[in-house]
Amino acid sequence: MNYKRCIDVYDFSVSEIFEIFDLAMRVKKNPLAYKNLLNGKALGLIFEKPSTRTWVSFDIGFSTLGGHAIYLGPQDIKLGVREEIRDVARVLARYLDAIVMRTFSHKTIIEFARYFAKPVINGLSDLEHPCQALTDYFTMLEIFGDFKGRKIAYVGDGNNVLSSLLLLAARLGVDFSFATPEECLVRRSTLMRARREAKRTKAKISEFHNPGQAVRGADIIYTDVWVSMGEEHKSSKRKYFKPFQVNQKLLSKAKKDVRFMHCLPAHRGEEVTNDVIEGKHSVVFDQAENRIHVQKAILIYLLGMNA
Ligand code: CP
Ligand code: NVA
Repeated sequence: MNYKRCIDVYDFSVSEIFEIFDLAMRVKKNPLAYKNLLNGKALGLIFEKPSTRTWVSFDIGFSTLGGHAIYLGPQDIKLGVREEIRDVARVLARYLDAIVMRTFSHKTIIEFARYFAKPVINGLSDLEHPCQALTDYFTMLEIFGDFKGRKIAYVGDGNNVLSSLLLLAARLGVDFSFATPEECLVRRSTLMRARREAKRTKAKISEFHNPGQAVRGADIIYTDVWVSMGEEHKSSKRKYFKPFQVNQKLLSKAKKDVRFMHCLPAHRGEEVTNDVIEGKHSVVFDQAENRIHVQKAILIYLLGMNA
């Protein structure tokens, strides 16, 4: 059997993405209607790095659907150290119905998925954060109704979050501009992939190294930390980001009613000022809340319960 998975944002077609958004909307409106849907199902959460939103929203989301989730932190199973990835995967496939993985290397998830013959969900790797990006576009749809005439701008590091936002923008046909320092580019292969997809969908993808240009006329300004988990040894890269801080001056270059988004955790005073994240343009906690609704929809969809 070929199991559905959510390792990369392109694991879903456009119609599947809208099916998940529609389901997430219904789950959000009426959570009690879904409370026994996953009775008897088990979800594993393998986390090599810390987490607040991803861990808690998957864990509690799965329980509120009637299932049981088990958290397996870095000290618990020591994936690939105590035991080979392929052995852990085949054993866990006998106990669990699906797995969420947060790993340093994307390759660990790919390797695990080769041996875990059930749905695998990427809860953030060095390359992608698909559940975050799916939630973010869902949140934008809640705000705007549709993407027509809307411009999304990302300012900051060329990291996992940007990669997933960019790829999904291309798939959904969205106008997406981003600005990173030249020293911290998004992966070239990811950009090429997004550009190929954009040709098909007529998405407008624009890369800048000047944040002011990227946010001109934007409906959304999005940022993320300058130094991601797992690259603390590269913290000297912070020096490239000073002009990339989202502050009132940068906000004033976008549309008047621009919304500010951040996947969180945030470092106030670095990628965003306190007044912006706490200000009237900020929707960061709506974004965070939506993680639970969208991920419940992803779980229902991957487990084939979306009747
Ligand atoms: N945005 C996000 O994934 O947050 P956590 O690292 O807390 O899970
Ligand atoms: N880019 C950040 C996102 C955290 C949710 C990281 O990888 O640490």
